[in-house]
Amino acid sequence: MAEAKKLYIKTYGCQMNVYDSERMAEAMGGQGYVQTDSPDDADMILLNTCHIREKAAEKVYSELGRFKGLKAAKPDLKIGVAGCVAQAEGEEIVRRQPMVDMVVGPQSYHRLPALAEASGGGTKALDTDFPEEDKFAALKSRPKTARGPTAFLTVQEGCDKFCAFCVVPYTRGAEVSRPAAQVMTEARDLVERGVREITLLGQNVNAYHGHDGGLAGLIRDLAGIDGLDRIRFTTSHPNDMDDDLIAAHGEVEKLMPYLHLPVQAGSDRVLKAMNRKHTAESYVRLIERLRAARPDLLLSGDFIVGFPGETEEDFAATMALVEEVRYGQCYSFKYSARPGTPAAERATVPAAEADDRLQRLQALLNRQQREIQDAMVGQEVKVLFERAGRMPGQMTGKSEYLHAVHVTDPEIAKGDLRRVRIVESAPNSLAGELV
Ligand code: SAH
Ligand code: SF4
Ligand code: F3S
Repeated sequence: MAEAKKLYIKTYGCQMNVYDSERMAEAMGGQGYVQTDSPDDADMILLNTCHIREKAAEKVYSELGRFKGLKAAKPDLKIGVAGCVAQAEGEEIVRRQPMVDMVVGPQSYHRLPALAEASGGGTKALDTDFPEEDKFAALKSRPKTARGPTAFLTVQEGCDKFCAFCVVPYTRGAEVSRPAAQVMTEARDLVERGVREITLLGQNVNAYHGHDGGLAGLIRDLAGIDGLDRIRFTTSHPNDMDDDLIAAHGEVEKLMPYLHLPVQAGSDRVLKAMNRKHTAESYVRLIERLRAARPDLLLSGDFIVGFPGETEEDFAATMALVEEVRYGQCYSFKYSARPGTPAAERATVPAAEADDRLQRLQALLNRQQREIQDAMVGQEVKVLFERAGRMPGQMTGKSEYLHAVHVTDPEIAKGDLRRVRIVESAPNSLAGELV
C-alpha cells in the first residue's frame, strides 16, 4: 500500500470554520490523506480563512509567505485557501500569491477532492460557487472513529440580515438550514462515537427552519437522544429569538444555561446605522424574558466600538447597556471597514478615539466577567471533562455556564460528567473539587 499523504489544515475565524475543517479532513481522508500537526511534512496545506476584520484577512497572506520555502523544496506540495477569504477574494488570492494551487469557497467543500485532483503543476483550481447541490448531503458520511466528548454540528449557514459592517452575507451567502432528519442522523452518529455535548452552529442559528418547530423543535428532538447530555447553540440574532426558543431554556434540561446573543451597540442611533433592526430597549426586554425562563442563564455578547458616526454619547449608551445586562463573557472589537459593505463608504471615527473606547469597554466587560466568576466560588456545578489540564494529574472541562473548570483528582477520566464544587476563581478559569 502506498504511504498515506499528509494534510495540514490551519483554521481561523469562527466555530463554523472549525466544523468545516473537520469535514474537509474527512473528505480528503477518502482520498488517502491523513492529518498532520505540522506543515513541514505535509503534501497538502489548507488554510481555512476568515474575512470578518481586516487583520484576520491579511493574516492569510503572511501565513502563505511562510510556506514559500516548503513549496520550493517540494514542488508537489499543494496549497489551498478555503473559507471566507477564498469566497471574498477568489482569483485575487492566486494573483497575490501565485504559489496557491486551489481556492475553495465554504459552499464547495464537497468538491475539494476533485479540485485537488485537477490542480498542481502550475494548474490552478478555483471554486467559489454557491452550488445547487447540498454540500452536506454530498459530503461522504462521517467515519466511525472515536471522538472527544464535545462536538460542533453545523445546522444552518449564511445570513440574510446584512448588518452594515459585516461580510458574512457575502462570504457565506443566503440563510440555508439543513433538514432536521439529516441533523438527527449526524447527532446520533456523533453520540455513538463518544460525544456527550453538541453545539449547534449557524451564522444565524436561531433562524433555523429545517424543522417545523424551528430551532426549539430541533433542540427538543435532540434532547430525546440517549447518551447526549448537553445541547448548546451559537450564534443567535435577537430578532430570531422566538417564544418557543425562550421557553425551551426553561423546559429542556439538556439545553445549557449559556447564551451568546450579540447586540453590537447600545445606542439606537448606531443600531439603526448598523441595520440591526432592533433597539437597545427591545434587546434588554428580550434578556428579561430569557432570564424569566431561566434565571441562572449566563449571557455572552459581541460589541463593535468606533462604528462610523459613533459619538461619545453613543458609546456611553453601550456602556449603560452593558451595566444593565451584566455579561458573563463578551467579545469586543474595534470597527474594521470591510470592502463591499455599506458602512465601508462612511467616515470613520479617529483610531485613537476608537482604541480608547475599546479599552474602557473591555475593562467593564472584564470586571463583569470576573465578578460573575468569583460568585461561582462555593457553588456546585456539573463539569464535562474534555482533556488533561496543564498541571500533573489535572483534568479540565466546562461547566453548564461554559466556564473552564480545572480539577485535580485521579478519579476523573476524559468524558466524565461530574458534580464539582468551585473553590477558586482565576482570571479565565475556575478550580474545583469533586463533590
Ligand atoms: N453571526 C454572528 C457573528 C458574526 S461575526 C452574529 O450575527 O452575531 C462575529 C462578530 O464579529 C460580530 O458579532 C461582530 O461583533 C464582529 N464583527 C463583524 N464585522 C465586523 C467589522 N467589520 N468590524 C469589527 N467587528 C466586526
Ligand atoms: Fe453579520 Fe449581522 Fe449576519 Fe451576524 S446577523 S452574520 S453580524 S450580517
Ligand atoms: Fe470569519 Fe467567515 Fe466565520 S468571515 S467569522 S470565518 S463566517
